[in-house]
Amino acid sequence: MSKPPGTPADDPFGGRRPTSHERMTGRPWDASYHDGPAPWDVGRPQPAVVRAAAEGGFAGAVLDAGCGSGENALHLASLGLSVLGIDVAGTALARARAKADERGIAAEFAEADAFGLQALGRSFRTVLDCGLFHTFDADERPAYVASLASVTEHGGMLYVLCFSDEGPDTGPHPVSRAQLTAAFGPGSGWDVVSVVPDRVLTRFHDEHGAPAWFATIGRS
Ligand SMILES: C[S@@+](CC[C@H](N)C(=O)[O-])C[C@H]1O[C@@H](n2cnc3c(N)ncnc32)[C@H](O)[C@@H]1O
Repeated sequence: MSKPPGTPADDPFGGRRPTSHERMTGRPWDASYHDGPAPWDVGRPQPAVVRAAAEGGFAGAVLDAGCGSGENALHLASLGLSVLGIDVAGTALARARAKADERGIAAEFAEADAFGLQALGRSFRTVLDCGLFHTFDADERPAYVASLASVTEHGGMLYVLCFSDEGPDTGPHPVSRAQLTAAFGPGSGWDVVSVVPDRVLTRFHDEHGAPAWFATIGRS
């Protein structure tokens, strides 16, 4: 990610506006990866992503938006898909690249802001958002949704796995079905195909994970 001219070398946000999550925690995303695995960094791909891939849900060039240390991207790449994982956390990307090398998997990882995906100059048939959408507040969502649309081929597919607000032991940033559907509503460039209850694994829930939504959303 190229930093805007005049960005101080020690700016932990690399010249971009801190997200609502970063403003709330007072720390850049990168810091989450400094002291051991982050709470969501479970060391394997999410079962929901593995299942969607096994059902043939991923095709063409794939973008993993907010890929973290890359387990989902690496799983998809191991199936022979062409995958680009992007994230603002350089530490996570370095881990993802190291894992790709160790496992002999060809996957690409780049530092980029999910609000400015058009700057990648690329387009994708399938996009994955595993745990990124739910970190954005209502003010941020329209710009993020438009950014996703700007790099997704018409007829392409987006999968969003996010914390849901239904059930006990919900994760941080729980999202309601209505909020999720509204974000990709009429005029957004997207058609919501389905939103189904699922689970997302974390390091702070038991082996069944936390309540989640798995949304399948088509680029119109
Ligand atoms: C909850 S973590 C999920 C990481 C990964 N998808 C996983 O399942 O392990 C959210 C990720 O989104 C990244 N992220 C947050 N805001 C971002 C932005 N504006 N652009 C790109 N990545 C962002 C964070 O650095 C973090 O790695």
